[in-house]
Amino acid sequence: MTTAPGVRVRDLTVVYKTPLGELPALRGVGLAIEPGTITGIVGESGSGKSTLALSLLNAVQPPGRIAEGSVEIDGLGDVLTLGGEALRQARGKHLGYVFQAAQNSLNPLKTVGKQLLDLGRSHGVRDGRVLVRDAMSLLERMGLDGARVLDSHQHQLSGGMRQRVGIMLALVLNAHLVILDEPTTALDMITQATILRIIREVHEERGLTTLMVTHDIGVAAEVTDRLAVMYGGRLVEHGPTKDVLGSPRHPYTRGLIQAIPRLSGDIAQARALPGRPPTLGTLPTAGCVFRERCPLRMEVCETDDPPTVAHGDRNAACHAVELPASAIRVERKEEFA
Ligand SMILES: Nc1ncnc2c1ncn2[C@@H]1O[C@H](COP(=O)(O)OP(=O)(O)O)[C@@H](O)[C@H]1O
Ligand code: SF4
Ligand SMILES: [Mg+2]
Repeated sequence: MTTAPGVRVRDLTVVYKTPLGELPALRGVGLAIEPGTITGIVGESGSGKSTLALSLLNAVQPPGRIAEGSVEIDGLGDVLTLGGEALRQARGKHLGYVFQAAQNSLNPLKTVGKQLLDLGRSHGVRDGRVLVRDAMSLLERMGLDGARVLDSHQHQLSGGMRQRVGIMLALVLNAHLVILDEPTTALDMITQATILRIIREVHEERGLTTLMVTHDIGVAAEVTDRLAVMYGGRLVEHGPTKDVLGSPRHPYTRGLIQAIPRLSGDIAQARALPGRPPTLGTLPTAGCVFRERCPLRMEVCETDDPPTVAHGDRNAACHAVELPASAIRVERKEEFA
C-alpha cells in the first residue's frame, strides 16, 4: 500500500458483554472514508468513537465483540477477516495508530528507542539507523529533544511528551492509513495547536488517509476535511467539515456546535446541550437514540430508528431532516453502491 487508501465501513455492529447482556456500542454504522482526506470522528464521551477506531484495526477486545459488518481497506481487503500474522503486519505497516490514553501504553521497562527498534524489527525494517533518524525528526518537529526522548523510559516523560511519542510511533513506519484516537487530549492549548498543524503537514507530505477521533468538535474543525458525528453508537451525520459546521442537519450536530461560541459565531453565549449522553444500559432499543435530548422530537422518533439518508456527499439520520424528494437515496448500504 503506497498511496492513500480508502476505507468502507459497512453495517458495523459491535457489542460489549455487560451484566445486562450483550449491548451494542455501535449499531449499523456505515462510513466511507475517502482516500487522502482527514476525517474527524466526533461525539460526546461514550458515543462509540474509540470502538469504531479499534474496529478499523480489528482490535476490539473482550468483553467486546464485532457482531456484524465489514471494514474494507484498499490494499488490505476486509480487515475483519484478517487474523494472526496478517493482521499484525497490517497494523503498524499499513495502519498506523495511536490509541486513546496512548500516554500509558509504552512499555515501562524499555527506553523509547528500544521500543522503536523492536517495532521496526517486528515489521521487517532492515535499517535501524534510518528508523531512528525518522523518529528523531518527527519528535523534533513536535518540539521535543529527539535523542533525549529515545533515551528515556516512560516515567521520565510527561503525559504530553508520551502522547507525542505515541504519534511518532504511529507515523514512523510510513503507514498510509493513520488512526489517531484523541491525540491531543493531554496537551496544553499551544502544544495542541502545534501537534494539529504537524498532523496536517505530515498528512499532506506523505499523502495519507487520516482518521482523527476527538470529543472536541473545535479540534476537529481546525484540522479535518470531513466530519462524522456519532451519538449513542450511531453515525448521525457525515459530510465535508465546512458544510457540516456551516449548516448542520442533525439536531445533535447543531447542539454540539451551539455549545462552542467560536464555531457557532454566537460569541454572547454558549448553549450547552441539555441532558446527558446515554450509556449502553440506557440506550433506547427502538426509535431514535437522540430523542431524549432532541428539541425536534416527533411521534415517529419514539418508534422508528431514522434511516441514514444521503444527499450528495452529505448524509444524516434524522426524521426531521428535510431533503428534496428527488435527492433522497435511502440507507447507508447504497452509499457504496
Ligand atoms: N470494555 C468495555 N466493556 C463494557 N463497555 C464498554 C467497554 N468499552 C467501551 N464500552 C462502552 O461502549 C460505549 C462506547 O465506548 P467508546 O467506544 O469508548 O466511546 P467513546 O470513545 O466515544 O468515548 C460506552 O457506553 C462505553 O461505556
Ligand atoms: S429522528 Fe427525531 S428525535 Fe431523532 S434527531 Fe431527528 S427529530 Fe430528533
Ligand atoms: Mg474514546
